[in-house]
Amino acid sequence: QANARESLYLVNAYANEYFQKTLHKTDPGKAIGYSYFKERGFNEDTIKKFNLGYSLDEWQAFTDDALGNGYQLEFLEKTGLTIVKEDKRFDRFKGRVMFPIHSMSGRILGFGGRILSNDKKAAKYLNSPESQVYHKSKILYGIYFAKQSIAKEDNCYLVEGYTDVIQFYQKGIKNVVASSGTALTPEQIRLVNRLTNNITVLFDGDAAGIRASIRGIDLILEQGMNVKVCTFPEGDDPDSFAKNNTLEELTLYLDTNAKDFIQYKASLLVKEANNDPIKKAETIREIVNSIAKIPDHIKKEIYIQECSKIMDISEDVLFSTLAQIDKKTF
Ligand code: CTP
Ligand code: MN
Ligand code: MN
Ligand code: MN
Ligand code: MN
Repeated sequence: QANARESLYLVNAYANEYFQKTLHKTDPGKAIGYSYFKERGFNEDTIKKFNLGYSLDEWQAFTDDALGNGYQLEFLEKTGLTIVKEDKRFDRFKGRVMFPIHSMSGRILGFGGRILSNDKKAAKYLNSPESQVYHKSKILYGIYFAKQSIAKEDNCYLVEGYTDVIQFYQKGIKNVVASSGTALTPEQIRLVNRLTNNITVLFDGDAAGIRASIRGIDLILEQGMNVKVCTFPEGDDPDSFAKNNTLEELTLYLDTNAKDFIQYKASLLVKEANNDPIKKAETIREIVNSIAKIPDHIKKEIYIQECSKIMDISEDVLFSTLAQIDKKTF
């Protein structure tokens, strides 16, 4: 329903203004929200550019304000901004700093809200629920601000989180978007593919996620794009690394450490296989699986040659493995 969707956009736009006003103009907004962003190293321009906000630590401050201004409960509930339980209404983002999520054309699709305390019982980030305008799997945080730079630089940095995007942008690296902690989807990759053929995936320095993310990266290869990966030192993520280094240091780090994905995967797996022949056989199949995703035949051949060197195995074996996989797929 086009009209219902429009109403959700209007509610989100209003909430976006409200949370910013709360951040900049109210005492708790200034004392709690604004100083939180300052502590993270975000400056005034950045806070305004990304429309960062604050949701008061009250049960229904936003809901009451929106209802008082004529917005209907039905749409407040559908955006997820208000949670309705029997006859009670609650602000979903009570007491959180707010990161609005923009579409490619700048409309507000939803929000991420970060908790301020280090209360381990509550989720660190809360996000808008799925709705007629918020489809988590089709959204990349920051795409609205990054799209021009992505096209101009002909590369897109892909990070995990909201603050990674913002910190990079403030440092001067603007071609950056976040998957917001979810597994990468084909739709998200297509958004980038419209702007460039090159993605550089930046991992948090907490090894846990790396093996899992590697699966998502095959999806990028499938779309015929070139993928590089870059890991950060243990304990760092793109946000903290960018915050603690100059633009020159950050650029140097990225240029030095970004590795072609296939080569990265091959060396990682070879290290893991550790001369165990059974593991090595699995490894070969796994890496050739990735190569099989690449639509371009010339690129495929070049990667086979390189992997043959990295894994110390003949090109013939790799090519015949590739042929087996291709036969199964078609
Ligand atoms: N995320 C989420 N819900 C959580 C934890 C994470 O939606 N409970 C998403 C957020 O989009 C977050 C991203 O996953 O930005 C990456 O998670 P993480 O690395 O844990 O958070 P950071 O972005 O580093 O957050 P911060 O620096 O604020 O601690
Ligand atoms: Mn393309
Ligand atoms: Mn992480
Ligand atoms: Mn992180
Ligand atoms: Mn972080």
